Amino acid sequence: MLTQYTLKMPHAVYSGENALNHMAALIGADTKKIAVFTDKGIIGAGLLRLPLEKIEETGREYVIFDELAAEPTYGQVQEVVDGFKKSGADFIIAVGGGSVMDTAKLASVLATDEYGVKELLDNPGMAGKCVKTLMIPTTAGTGAEATPNAIVAVPEKELKVGIVNDNMIADYVILDAVMIKELPRKIAASTGVDALCHAVECFTSNKKNPFSDIFALQAFEMIMKNIEKACDDPEALEEKNNMLIASFYAGVAITASGTTAVHALSYPLGGKYHIPHGVSNAILLAPVMKFNEPVCRELFAEAYDRLAPDAGAKTAGEKSAWVVNRMNEIVEHLNIPKSLKEFGIGDEDLDTLVLAGMDVQRLLVNNMRTVTAEDARKLYLEIM
Ligand SMILES: NC(=O)c1ccc[n+]([C@@H]2O[C@H](COP(=O)([O-])OP(=O)(O)OC[C@H]3O[C@@H](n4cnc5c(N)ncnc54)[C@H](O)[C@@H]3O)[C@@H](O)[C@H]2O)c1
Ligand SMILES: [Zn+2]
Repeated sequence: MLTQYTLKMPHAVYSGENALNHMAALIGADTKKIAVFTDKGIIGAGLLRLPLEKIEETGREYVIFDELAAEPTYGQVQEVVDGFKKSGADFIIAVGGGSVMDTAKLASVLATDEYGVKELLDNPGMAGKCVKTLMIPTTAGTGAEATPNAIVAVPEKELKVGIVNDNMIADYVILDAVMIKELPRKIAASTGVDALCHAVECFTSNKKNPFSDIFALQAFEMIMKNIEKACDDPEALEEKNNMLIASFYAGVAITASGTTAVHALSYPLGGKYHIPHGVSNAILLAPVMKFNEPVCRELFAEAYDRLAPDAGAKTAGEKSAWVVNRMNEIVEHLNIPKSLKEFGIGDEDLDTLVLAGMDVQRLLVNNMRTVTAEDARKLYLEIM
């Protein structure tokens, strides 16, 4: 019997020089009022100016929602959704990172009083698309502009939960490198490594398939080759553009495949200890990849042949070790924290972490090497 797999992605994606110029054409002729979702960091960086100019050129009425929280709780998202519902807007433009885009995606399916974000936690599929969305990512990134996922924190459970609903896939995406040109190095580094994790995890996931492999492997190659220069050199527009495209591809790979143990063990670090998503993934990346290496050796060797065929490795073992080592070098080069101690987490937190990490079976089942509670304990200990 043939295996079934699916590819889902936004209706249209625009990239390259002056990609933002497509905005006006994407705002439908029947659109009456636009809701612009963003946050204070984006406004402070002056990044809303250009998109607003483009909106103003269309003569459409618009309202700005900029009180959006980073890595929001479901309650914080609901507050924004309530304001959005009252506004009467019929088109959403999100200008921001994963936090802004996830909030916008939830609002786009919640123009109803019958249920809210809380209800979607238990029954994510109940919501239908209410308004069209245009996503303009300012980090590279979560890939949230590509996926049907929105991640919210659930404080009473000290967890982050992914709400997945195909109706939340963006209608339009604009990947314009000017939006990440001034991205502070620290944020560029951690969000870039998040994209790296999406790519390598989807490529080594039990859910991998020919559709996801195309996007995951291409994203992996582009990120490995561009991330350092994109973060280090403010003028490296080509490398930044490549990072934007690659993080979008990695988002498509998530939709077609699924992340694995890095993201699974990272969830409690965000939910309970509020470590930013990209940072907690970066801390876990090298230890989990070393743990997975024996069962993912051939796949890492395949990635090596794409990445560095002339780097001298001969056997699958040598090629695979080169790839795992290179990922570690990148995290080190980018000066992302390497240990949980920097966040005040110590041995006394180990039991809680193991329990919470093992609870993320939704993603752990995707990991090619089975992760037992004992394995999870060793992995968390390694990053203490
Ligand atoms: N939906 C998905 O598929 C998906 C995938 C991965 C992660 N996520 C979620 O996305 C969230 C993280 O998103 P993120 O990593 O993009 O960060 P973010 O959206 O939380 O932004 C982090 C900070 O960076 C600032 N910022 C963003 N872009 C900037 C720019 N160009 N210049 C200056 N400052 C800028 C923001 O103002 C904010 O203060 C988490 O909640 C995570 O769980 C979602
Ligand atoms: Zn992620």
